[in-house]
Amino acid sequence: MTQSDHRPGTLIPGGAVFPHRHLTGIEGLEPHEITFLLDEADTWVEANRTRAAPDRRLAGSTQINAFFENSTRTLLSFEIAGKRLGADVVNMHAAQSSVKKGETLIDTAQTLNAMRADVIVIRHMSSGAVRLIADKVDCPVLNAGDGRHEHPTQALLDALTIRRRLGGIAHKRVVICGDLLHSRVARSNILALTALAAEVRVCAPSTLMPPAIERFGVTAFTDFDRAMEGADVVMMLRLQTERMEGGYVPSSREYHLRYGLTLERLAKHAPGALIMHPGPMNRGVEIDSAVADHAEQSAITEQVEMGVAVRMACLDVLTRRARGVEGWA
Ligand code: CP
Repeated sequence: MTQSDHRPGTLIPGGAVFPHRHLTGIEGLEPHEITFLLDEADTWVEANRTRAAPDRRLAGSTQINAFFENSTRTLLSFEIAGKRLGADVVNMHAAQSSVKKGETLIDTAQTLNAMRADVIVIRHMSSGAVRLIADKVDCPVLNAGDGRHEHPTQALLDALTIRRRLGGIAHKRVVICGDLLHSRVARSNILALTALAAEVRVCAPSTLMPPAIERFGVTAFTDFDRAMEGADVVMMLRLQTERMEGGYVPSSREYHLRYGLTLERLAKHAPGALIMHPGPMNRGVEIDSAVADHAEQSAITEQVEMGVAVRMACLDVLTRRARGVEGWA
């Protein structure tokens, strides 16, 4: 089964269809569907800033956030997003769940389903786990990051940040540098940004470069300085040591020398570029504090803000059909 399941779709104003029942990845989304979610998210940014007119469109709905892996930003922003829309939000952490007692993923999925949630948000350490749960439950499922596979709402919030800061995404040169091999953020960003016609460059040591990554429509570099030339956006990724077995880089210090984003490197190769990082950051390894905290160029806290808006949009859109919203099949 594909991500969409091809169930009756949600109507996009203008007649196109958003047919996806779940959001398990950016893969399978059409460019106009990505743009649609960004447009929807954009409408929540100002509302979140002013909080002038509370909107409780998910009142009476139950949202379960089932997190089998640690998270700060994604968990909190999904919780805030659901609550701002009036949903009853319940968080399930793996450390306190029966997963620790040996419960299988299928049994967990069936348990979540029996509780008749209206929407389930899942983070899991295994690639494909979210899809597996989505196939077992009756409500929409949102992927909050699964293993090395995808992190679709991160890519959407990154795209929204770029679009708002630079006025568009098409033809912007975006450099994604870091541990590409273990990164679901990189994969989802590559899919989203290339779909929206950005020029995407990826950069990593050869040990952290996925084989044949060019098939995703990106240009691969092992030389960070060359990759950065003329960049509009530089997106840094951390070394994901929790997903590594053995050593992929000689040392953090060596890695910083070749791939760390410093003020000097930025000024020399991409002086006006927007600086992004999905977090959590390892300051002094992939990014220096002076860059991460750059008053004009760093968009890192803005990314977090956009995360709430994007997650509100996704929760709203994916539950419209079940809520019987007029005009949405
Ligand atoms: N960017 C991101 O997914 O952060 P968390 O792991 O804190 O959710």
